[in-house]
Amino acid sequence: MSLLRVDALTCHFGGLVANDAISFDIAHPGVFAIIGPNGAGKTTLFNMISGFIRPTAGKVFLDGADITAMPPERIAARGLVRTFQLTKLFADLTVVENVKVGRHVRTSAGIFGALTRLGRARHEEAQTDLRARALLELVGLAAMADAKAAILPYGQQRLLEIARAMAAEPRLLLLDEPAAGLNNEETASLSVLVRRIADTGTTVLLIEHDMRLIMNTADRIVVLNFGRKIAEGSPAEIQADPAVIDAYLGGVEMLHV
Ligand SMILES: Nc1ncnc2c1ncn2[C@@H]1O[C@H](COP(=O)(O)OP(=O)(O)OP(=O)(O)O)[C@@H](O)[C@H]1O
Ligand SMILES: [Mg+2]
Repeated sequence: MSLLRVDALTCHFGGLVANDAISFDIAHPGVFAIIGPNGAGKTTLFNMISGFIRPTAGKVFLDGADITAMPPERIAARGLVRTFQLTKLFADLTVVENVKVGRHVRTSAGIFGALTRLGRARHEEAQTDLRARALLELVGLAAMADAKAAILPYGQQRLLEIARAMAAEPRLLLLDEPAAGLNNEETASLSVLVRRIADTGTTVLLIEHDMRLIMNTADRIVVLNFGRKIAEGSPAEIQADPAVIDAYLGGVEMLHV
C-alpha cells in the first residue's frame, strides 16, 4: 500500500485552475520532489495534501486511509507534517522551545491538558526536551538551543523549522522550498540533512527550485506546469524530458547542474 496516494486532485480559484487532476503515488520510502516554474501550483498541491485548503475535486490517501479535507492537525497526528514556504517561527521562544511546540501533536497531555495533568506533563516534558535537543543535533543547531529563535540568521531559522516539523515524528515530511534564501554551503548541508531524514525512515516530499539540490537528493520527481502534471520520473529521466525542458524558459542548462 502506498504511503501517499494523490488521486486527481483539483483546485479552482474562481476561474483559475491552480491544480488540474494531479495524481501520483509515493509507494517507497525516500526523497520525492515536486518541481515546476513559479505559479505552477506546487504550494497549492501541498496545501490540499496537508489539509490547509479543501480540494475542488479529487482525493488524498495516507496509508490507504482517505484524509481528504481533514483538518491539518488530524493529518499531522496521522504522520503527515509540513513546513511553509515562508518560515513561521515563534520569535520570542528559544530555539529548543520552538522544537517542543512541534511535539504537541504527539504528546497525550497536549497544550491545555498539560495544565491539568501536571505530573504526567512533567514526565513528558523531560522526554520532549531530550528529543528536541536530539533533533537540534540532527539539523546542526544544538549549540543554539537556548538562544531566542529571533536571533538566528535566516538559514538557521529554516533548519529550525525542519527540526520543529520532525518533532511531530512524521512518517511523511513535506518541505516547501527549504533551500529558498540559503547560500550554496547551507544548501549543500540541507541536501545531506534531507537524505539523513529519509534514511531514518521519514519519507520526504519537497518542493524546490534549486536544481542542484533536487537532482542530487530526489529519488523521484513530479513536474507541474500551469496546474498540470507534465512529467514524472527519476532525475535523469526528468532532465531528458522534452516537455520539462520546454516548461523551463531557461532551457536545458537550467536542468543540468
Ligand atoms: N488563495 C489563492 N487565491 C487565488 N489564487 C491563488 C491562491 N493561491 C494560489 N493562487 C494562484 O494559483 C496559482 C498556483 O499558485 P501556487 O502558489 O500553488 O504556485 P507555486 O508553484 O507554489 O509557485 P511558487 O514557485 O512561486 O511558489 C498561481 O497562479 C497563484 O496566483
Ligand atoms: Mg510555492
